[in-house]
Amino acid sequence: MKLLITGGAGFIGSNFIRHLLASRPDFEILNFDKLTYAGNSENLADLTIDSSYQFVRGDIGDHRTIERLFESNFDAVIHFAAETHVDRSIEDASPFLETNILGTQRLLEAARRFPNLRFIHISTDEVYGSAAPGESFTEESPIDPRSPYAASKASAEHFVRAYANTYGISAVILRCTNNFGPFQFPEKLIPLIISNASENKPIPVYGDGLQERDWLFVTDFCTAIRLAIDTAKPGSLYNVSAGSPQPNLKIVRTILQTLGKSESLIQFVQDRPGHDRRYALDSSKIRRELGWAPAVSFEDGIRRTIEWYQSNSQWLDHARSGEYRTYYERHYDRRSQTLGN
Ligand code: NAD
Ligand code: TYD
Repeated sequence: MKLLITGGAGFIGSNFIRHLLASRPDFEILNFDKLTYAGNSENLADLTIDSSYQFVRGDIGDHRTIERLFESNFDAVIHFAAETHVDRSIEDASPFLETNILGTQRLLEAARRFPNLRFIHISTDEVYGSAAPGESFTEESPIDPRSPYAASKASAEHFVRAYANTYGISAVILRCTNNFGPFQFPEKLIPLIISNASENKPIPVYGDGLQERDWLFVTDFCTAIRLAIDTAKPGSLYNVSAGSPQPNLKIVRTILQTLGKSESLIQFVQDRPGHDRRYALDSSKIRRELGWAPAVSFEDGIRRTIEWYQSNSQWLDHARSGEYRTYYERHYDRRSQTLGN
């Protein structure tokens, strides 16, 4: 099976590529990534470029490149590429519209020419908006995106469904909760806590810190995606979650305790504008229909994540200093495929 993975140099995409190379050596993978600030070539630095893994740097918004890329006749596209940080979307929503909406539409446009291509669209629980205490959204719940990031992801999903309906694209949408684990860029909550605490820097907690997120260890999302490629019916939509929302402050305290750091590092700061109070998903549909279940508990996942950041201090130093951004020029382009231009 030949797969196009967009955004494979980011957090979940790079974990997914590792997961596939380990579990499905029969797959051929082409990783197409723009290497924005969130794309880190060091995430995949140990992989050999060969017949099972290739990398092409490019922008999903560049329709000519995308049209040429699709001439490779893929069996499936796994579409991760996106602008993903809510705080950045509040600062400037434009790149979110360009990549998350227009970029997705360009991929769909190219995909139209290939009726047998499977299009796995990676979406988020944030499209549902904020859940009330005790509430868990099902796939039937209405969507109500409340941040520019969430609105761009909801819009992208509408285009996926519209193209499936109008042109018969075989699309599957996965809405996942917050992931955590190795290779997550330290602007997101969990790696930010680990990174700041390891340098005894203050940890900014927005508002009262009692907002809840339904965390899932990244390898568990990877198994859900692989099942979707193998067995999900075209047109299906699945929530993916561990189903145990936790308040942010509890996570901060757990990590500080594990690292042996003082809670005096916690610094309550002004809340994020429009901050969604709670995310929680009911994932019984994917458990029932595809036989998926998370294998890693939150406690085990957080321990593994902390250990990974501690034993990969160079990765974290480069992420913090920006040195990772020079990696591609120093190493990667000599080995990578180009599109012949
Ligand atoms: P990330 O920010 O770590 O990585 C995004 C990747 O996309 C980067 O490698 C970046 O270079 C690439 N990219 C950005 N714009 C591009 C463009 N125009 N063309 C090509 N590549 C581009 O993101 P992530 O956390 O790994 O998330 C991956 C996907 O999963 C996203 O679609 C996100 O919305 C979704 N998602 C993430 C989470 C989470 O907790 N991280 C949860 C649910 C869903
Ligand atoms: P984040 O990792 O940005 O993911 P998302 O906003 O997509 O859920 O944030 C997770 C939660 O942590 C969210 O409620 C915002 C909060 N948060 C802080 O309190 N402080 C921080 O410095 C960051 C980055 C997030």
